[in-house]
Amino acid sequence: MKNKLRILTGERPTGCLHIGHYIGALRQRVEMQNSGKYEPFILIADAQALTDNADNPEKIRANLLEVCADNLAVGIDPSISTIGVQSHIYPLTELTFYYMNLVTLARLQRNPTVKAEMKQKGYGANVPAGFLTYPVSQTADITAFDADVVPVGEDQLPVIEQGREIVSTFNRIYGETLVMPKAVLDTATKCHRLPGLDGNGKMSKSLGNTINLKDDSDTVVQKIMSMYTDPDHIHVTDPGKVEGNMVFTYLDAFTNDAQIAQISEYQTINEIKEHYRRGGLGDVKIKRILIEVMQSILTPIREKRAIYENDKAQLMEILKRGSDRMLDIAQSTLTRVKNAMGINYFNDSTFLK
Ligand code: TRP
Repeated sequence: MKNKLRILTGERPTGCLHIGHYIGALRQRVEMQNSGKYEPFILIADAQALTDNADNPEKIRANLLEVCADNLAVGIDPSISTIGVQSHIYPLTELTFYYMNLVTLARLQRNPTVKAEMKQKGYGANVPAGFLTYPVSQTADITAFDADVVPVGEDQLPVIEQGREIVSTFNRIYGETLVMPKAVLDTATKCHRLPGLDGNGKMSKSLGNTINLKDDSDTVVQKIMSMYTDPDHIHVTDPGKVEGNMVFTYLDAFTNDAQIAQISEYQTINEIKEHYRRGGLGDVKIKRILIEVMQSILTPIREKRAIYENDKAQLMEILKRGSDRMLDIAQSTLTRVKNAMGINYFNDSTFLK
C-alpha cells in the first residue's frame, strides 16, 4: 500500500526550460514535492518527443541532461522525487500496445489537443501514427506508476481525459486494475500563460522570446533591457501604459510588494504603476527593478545548475537511478496488467486446469 498520493509529471526534452516553465509548472512542482503529501515522479518523455521529431533525434539527445539539470536547479530533490527517462522504461511501450486496442481511430482524431498540434505542424493526413497515438502512450506513462495526480497545463486536459477513458474501459473489461488519474491544473493555467519578452503570444523557445533558466546574468540584463514596453512612451515625462507592457506583466508574475519595498524606493507594485501612468518614470528604471527581481530568482537556480553542469556524471547517476526505479515499478504494473488480461500463460498455474 502506498501512503502518499503519487504524482506524475512529464516533459518532452525538446529545449531547455525557461522562466515561463518556472512560473507555470516548476515552482508548483517543487512546492508539491516539499509539502510532504506526495510521492512525485518526473518523466523525461524522450520517446514522446520523438513522435514529432523522428528525423531529429539529435535535438532530444542534446536536451535530455538540460531538462534534468533545470529540474534539479529549481529545487527538485532526487531523494524525494524520482526522475526517469521514458525510453529506458520499456514496459511503457508494451502497455501502450494493449491500450491501443481500447481506443478508436475516430476518438484519437477527435482529441482537440492533438488536432491543434497537428494543425500547427501542418500534418494533415500525413500525421505520424506515433504522434496521433501519443495520448495512448501518455496513458501508459501515467498508469504505469499508479499516478493519482497529474499536474498539467490546460492544453493537456483532453489528453488526460482520453487517458481516463482508457483506464475505465480497461477496468470494465479486465477487472479493477488501473488507478484512475486526476488532472490538476498548473499555475500557468490559473494565472495566465507568461507572454514572451516581445509581448507576442506565449514564451517559447521557437519564437526566441524566452529567458532561460540557464542564461547567465549578463544575458538576463541584456534581454530585459530590450523587452517590449509601451511603444508610445517616448520621453520619460510622457504618461505610460501599464497594460500590455511586459515589464509590468513580469513584475506582477514574479514579485510582491514586500520585495519591491526592499529593493526599490517604492512600497508597492501599484505605486510604480501609478508613477509610470502619470509620467516621469523611465523604462530603464522599471527595467532595473525587474532585473533585480529576476536575478534574485535566477541566481540561486543558476548556481545550483552550474554544479550539475560541471558534474555530468552525477546528473547521469541521478537519472540512471531514477530510471531503474521507474523501470521496476512499470514492470510490476505490466505484470499486473497481463495477469488481468489473462496473457500470463507461463506464470499462471491455473492455465492448464
Ligand atoms: N505531453 C506532455 C507535454 O507535451 C508531456 C508528457 C509526457 C506528460 N508524458 C506525460 C505529461 C505524462 C504528464 C504526464 O507537455
